[in-house]
Amino acid sequence: MGHSPLQSIHMTEKDSIKVVDKVNDMQTLSNSVRKGGRIISFVPTMGALHEGHISLIRKAKEKGEFLIVSIFVNPTQFSPGEDYRTYPRNIKKDAQKCRKEKVDFIFYPGAKKIYPENHLAYVEVAKLSKILEGKFRPTHFKGVTTIVLKLFNIIMPDKAYFGLKDYQQYIIIKKMVENLNLCVILLGMPLVRKKDGLAMSSRNKYLNKKEREDALLLSKALFHAKDLIKKGEKRSKIIIKEIYKILVTGAFIKKKDIDYVSIIHPDTLDEMSYLNNHCVIALAVRIGRTRLIDNIII
Ligand code: PAJ
Repeated sequence: MGHSPLQSIHMTEKDSIKVVDKVNDMQTLSNSVRKGGRIISFVPTMGALHEGHISLIRKAKEKGEFLIVSIFVNPTQFSPGEDYRTYPRNIKKDAQKCRKEKVDFIFYPGAKKIYPENHLAYVEVAKLSKILEGKFRPTHFKGVTTIVLKLFNIIMPDKAYFGLKDYQQYIIIKKMVENLNLCVILLGMPLVRKKDGLAMSSRNKYLNKKEREDALLLSKALFHAKDLIKKGEKRSKIIIKEIYKILVTGAFIKKKDIDYVSIIHPDTLDEMSYLNNHCVIALAVRIGRTRLIDNIII
């Protein structure tokens, strides 16, 4: 009898979807899938799955690829005082959603398996990780690139799907893949919003009813900016001023709660003072104890 490497893999059944929690097992599994000639697609997540995540999963499944979703709340991308401990976790619900979407495997490792006590190696994309979000979360992207590189090495995907909700994150990961010559194709997928415009985010769960009303101002301000640009406005200063005006109409949003509103080049993330071509408008706002980011590609 032939011995398949799959037989030695420890798996748990959570709502009938295969969950792999050991790094070695995941590598063995990925290797055997590759040897079988299947394309491996990968959607990295921190769980608390919503329609934004599901859009990435569906896109990957649409192509008939072997799909692995990782669920790992990555401690190194949270700074002390941020919401690592309170970040929403619900593996059972997530597993059900993945099963419904016919995800092939979930990789769900424990933090100690990913970061053993003597873990010392990190990877960082210079410059890009220090602007915009990086100004307010100085170690955030170092944590993101480190975990994404580790996950790429564990899962060895042919393709990886990311959402443009986290626009800067996507550009930074793209730079890492290019500069470190990683063999993976990255796909950036459109930002998914609720019907009322609110960008889907696991952190929306933190908002109470009143705060959620304020949260709608983020997309409202971005859509208004898009209209202004359509009508011919090209001066960033004017557009940014208009965005601020809308944001501060919120009951909880004062000027000091707006971390940044930036109009940036889509590839370099350089600030643009005059809009002569495509741009991205990105912003971050604190509403109560919730920090939200949003963007629009123009
Ligand atoms: P997480 O916030 O769980 O997001 C996982 C993926 O879903 C990211 O690529 C993100 O951009 C995408 N996503 C989230 N909300 C979205 C929305 N409304 N529309 C479209 N895509 C959306 O991003 C992370 O996790 C982590 O930093 C991770 C890359 C997993 C590394 O830990």
